[in-house]
This record gives sequence, structure tokens and C-alpha cells, in this order.
Amino acid sequence: MAIDILIKNAICVSHNGTEATDVAIKDDIIVAIGHIDDVEANEVIDARGLHLIPGVIDTQVHFREPGAEAKEDLESGSRAAVMGGVTAVFEMPNTKPATTTKEALNDKVERATNRMWCDFAFYIGASAKNAKQLHKLERLPGCCGIKIFMGSSTGDLLVADDQTLADILSNGTRRIAIHAEDEARLIERKHLSEKGGVLQHPIWRDNQTAYKATDRILEIARRTGRRIHVLHVTTEDEMALLAAYKDVASVEVTPQHLTLSAPECYEKLGSYAQMNPPIRDEKERLGLWKALSVGIVDVLGSDHAPHEKEMKALAYPKSPSGMPGVQTLLPLMLDQVNKGTLSMERLVDLTSAGAARLFNIAGKGRLAVGYDADLTIVDLKKKWIITEDWLQSKCGWSPYTGMQLMGKPVGTFVRGKKVMWYDQLADEATGQPIRFQDTLNG
Ligand code: DOR
Repeated sequence: MAIDILIKNAICVSHNGTEATDVAIKDDIIVAIGHIDDVEANEVIDARGLHLIPGVIDTQVHFREPGAEAKEDLESGSRAAVMGGVTAVFEMPNTKPATTTKEALNDKVERATNRMWCDFAFYIGASAKNAKQLHKLERLPGCCGIKIFMGSSTGDLLVADDQTLADILSNGTRRIAIHAEDEARLIERKHLSEKGGVLQHPIWRDNQTAYKATDRILEIARRTGRRIHVLHVTTEDEMALLAAYKDVASVEVTPQHLTLSAPECYEKLGSYAQMNPPIRDEKERLGLWKALSVGIVDVLGSDHAPHEKEMKALAYPKSPSGMPGVQTLLPLMLDQVNKGTLSMERLVDLTSAGAARLFNIAGKGRLAVGYDADLTIVDLKKKWIITEDWLQSKCGWSPYTGMQLMGKPVGTFVRGKKVMWYDQLADEATGQPIRFQDTLNG
């Protein structure tokens, strides 16, 4: 059989462990793994010395289209993704209009198909208004599930009360992604944000604000028997709670919360370090690493949430919350692998296998014959500095600009297409909706 691409001698890291081997791709699919000689291939890539991992899946990005294309759009956000070694993303519903209807979700799928550089799925936003339709909306093609904002953040999606939360959790079957900050406590403490600048951000939106919401939603999830996914967990105490709810709840952490801490990040970066839930102190940061090392954490998500520099320059609390991250997720974590904080095998679990397991992704998240040829190739020993000209996000900044890292993504393959190779993009974008086992037939 003639194949399209033969990748030779890469150090492959997968559920099988780590071994130097070859990977053959034909059309969209991995067709062979092992020592492959004597085959005809249109292209042979010698990847000796490079690591090959299953394509990185980022299950939390905000790409801002439609409605805020000055910050980002589906093309630019996905360009940032593939430059950073990400092969698939789940995109958030707090766009304008918010993605709360069939029309809005279909519109995103249409805009994204063959315009995004990576594969994609979109969350449907929950609101009191669409609560009764969510069991149908969550099954639309190209939908990865429901997202609930329990506390106000960017945009106006919000479900704050327990009764509506219980109604939503009772109506449908797929895992629901949760932004857990307690709205009542946010309102009660809002005055704390009004004096003192951005250093007040984690004081206003304090540990208790996150803990209270996580505690409430876990109780509702267990009572209603609905699986949930708690996004960007920020505190040690929430992790202890979440460990007791692994039957219903999965856990995400972001590279930002693992690598930045207060108050230094606010002193150094000002409102560029402002996000929801906030970056917290060193004790919490170390608590997140502990949770990651003992398996409480299921996935890494970037929460890529770009805002223009002019908006970030507004005086806090008028400055918007959020920072870009889809392009730096894998580089930051490769640097951590080099520092010895996590293994490549654990990184693979957190960036591909984890997402596939939680969301029942069809044909992705595993380096195996018959799976989509979504592959990320990295040079683990490459020393380099993050510069603004490498960044693809329209926002044009990163909290990590100027940082020296060891380990860089050098190749991104999406369903067999080489979309990025040593910082060069392919000629055309070929992104397609991700398929899910739960909804293969709608
Ligand atoms: O910091 C954040 N920014 N947290 C969110 O929940 C939303 C996001 C955004 O869309 O800007």
C-alpha cells in the first residue's frame, strides 16, 4: 500500500509507553506504527531526536467570533493553536451573540469549517431561557456539550441559582463544563475591587468564591446524577473536595495557574495577569501541582481569552479579565517536563487522552492504528524565547513574552495534513468538526 507520510524514528510517547518508532499516515488516519521499511511513501520525515505525541486537544478556548473579532477570530485563534502544537479545540459560548441557540451553533460550525487550522467543537451556553432545550442543543453536530457560568465573567452568560442549575443538570446526558465562582459572593464583595488596583482581583474573587460554587455544583451533580467538568480550578481546598467526587466530576487546570502566582504576577504584569478565576498565591499554585501529581486533575486547558492591549490598559476593575494561552500551553508544559515537574507520559494523558476519555471524542486522543492522524512533534531540548512575532493571536501579547523555555512544538499534523512545520503554516486551513461517540447519529 502506498502511504502519504512516513514519520521515521520519532520518540513516540503514548499509552504504550515511550519508544523510538515509525508512524505511517494515509489520508486522515494512522495506518501503521512500528518499524516500517519497504513501503512507498509520498513524503518521508526523519524525526530522529524529536518526540511525537498524540495531537494536543485544548478543551477551553475563547476565539471571540462572532462579535469581538478585534480580539480574535476563528482563523487567527486556530492559527495560534497549531503554531503551539494544538490539533483540536473546544471553543466557548460567550461570543456576541452568545452561542445559546441551534442557529448560533450552526453558524459557528459553518464559519469554522475549512477556515480553522485545527479541528474544533463548540460549547452551547446555558441560560434560564434555553434550559428546557439544552438536552437537544447539546447533541448538535459540532457541539462538545454545555457550558455554565455560575459567576459573571466576560459576556452576559450566567446561571446563578441552585434551582436553575438543578433544572439544567437534570435535562440531558453529556458532561457539562462549569465556571465555578459564586455570583452572590461576587456581588457582595464587589466593593473590594474598587480601590487598590489589580492586586485586589484575587481578594475580590477570593478562594471562598470559587470553593462555594464548586461545593454547590458538586452537590447538585451528585443529586441529579449528571457528569460535570470543573474548569480552571484554582485552590487546594477545591482539589480536596473534587477528589471525593471523581465519580461525577472531572477537573481542569490551566498553565497560567500552574506557573504564575500572586502578588508577583500582578506587580509584574498588572492587568495582563487578570483572569477569572484569578491567579492566586504560591500556596494554591503548589496545591494545584500536588493535585496534578496524584491524578485529581484530568486535563490541561488554556482558557485562551484574548483582549486588546487598549482594553487591558483600562484602570482596574474596568480592565477585562482573560489572557491568551492556546499557543503557549504546550511550550510551557514541555518546559515543566524539562524541569522535572511532570513526565511526558503524564503530559500526554493531560493533553489528549484525558479530553478523549471525558468527552467521548471519536477517533482522537490516542496514538493508535485507525485513529485520526492528529500528531504533535516536539523538540524537547530546544532552548528558545517567546517573542511577540511568534505569537499568532490578534491580541498581540502574552504574559510569557520574553520568557526562555526548553522544549518547543515543531510540527502539527491534523488528520494527516502537515499544518505546521518549524513555524511554517500550510497553504490552506482544513479544520473540521470533532465527532463524539455520544452523538454520532445526532
Ligand atoms: O478570565 C476570563 N476570561 N475568564 C472567563 O471566564 C472568561 C474569559 C473571557 O472570555 O474573557
